[in-house]
Amino acid sequence: MKGIILAGGTGSRLFPITQAVCKQLMPIYDKPMIYYPLSTLMQAGIQEILIITTPEDQPKFKSLLLDGSQWGVQLEYAVQEKPCGLADAFIVGEDFIGSDSVAMILGDNIFYGADLAEQLQTAVADFTGGMGFAVEVENPERYGIYEFDEEMQVLSIEEKPAKPKSHYANSGLYFFDNRVPRIAKAVTPSQRGEIEITSVLDAYLQMGELKVSLFGDVWLDTGTIDSLVDANDFVRVMQNRTGKIIASPELTAYQQGFIDREQLEKLARPLEKSGYGKYLDVR
Ligand code: DAU
Repeated sequence: MKGIILAGGTGSRLFPITQAVCKQLMPIYDKPMIYYPLSTLMQAGIQEILIITTPEDQPKFKSLLLDGSQWGVQLEYAVQEKPCGLADAFIVGEDFIGSDSVAMILGDNIFYGADLAEQLQTAVADFTGGMGFAVEVENPERYGIYEFDEEMQVLSIEEKPAKPKSHYANSGLYFFDNRVPRIAKAVTPSQRGEIEITSVLDAYLQMGELKVSLFGDVWLDTGTIDSLVDANDFVRVMQNRTGKIIASPELTAYQQGFIDREQLEKLARPLEKSGYGKYLDVR
């Protein structure tokens, strides 16, 4: 399975902060936001990853993440000219996906759980067709919403419904087989003019090939100023209480066996002064 991180968009819900600064490069406590979705894909065992950004922000992502070889992964970059919808990621990424399946994650989403790597790897191994991850939320009208029957089989999915049929939100992580670029191209843009991810999920549902897994741990998006501050607080409190770093690509790469201890130590050295490096000491 390959991976795509969708890290474009205008960030307009965070203006004026994101008027001159790219949202997905802003800090979430001690590291750039994009480290979180990147580490999530790496925890799923994915090593070939495409980063989709706006044209103007691409050089900044490249100077931060390089080609990924320092973390034992292969990073490629592509540009989304206009933010015309989440499902556009599969059209922009069509050549990259090729004959593989793909995991797509939003560049502003944080997934956290003690056994996240294991859960994701099981999902990758079991998956066919399309797969979404549902999370219970307080404010369902803000999200794509799944409806389930008593056996938790998915019945429907609606984008930001005025009258939500459940509190199960469509989070920002999706697995699809290699039909997804073709399916995304066939989607009619919504009223807000976007190629919606929920339309792609619905297409798989109509084919009887959509599975939705309940994600019972922590899912945070950082789309508004309050959710951004909440995410910072969450990471600060968890790291300071447990002494364990959340979403470090260096440590994830080591834990997944993508790099050896010598490489981890080499990566940690220039990070020692910021305190981030101390978390990378695995002796
Ligand atoms: O956060 C989960 C929700 O994300 C889902 O529940 C919804 O079903 C899904 O449509 C999406 O809803 P939003 O309307 O909140 O997505 P937003 O426009 O905020 O975009 C999410 C991220 O993707 C954001 O960081 C910007 C980026 N993006 C967005 C669009 C539309 C792009 O990179 N390109 C785009 O074309």
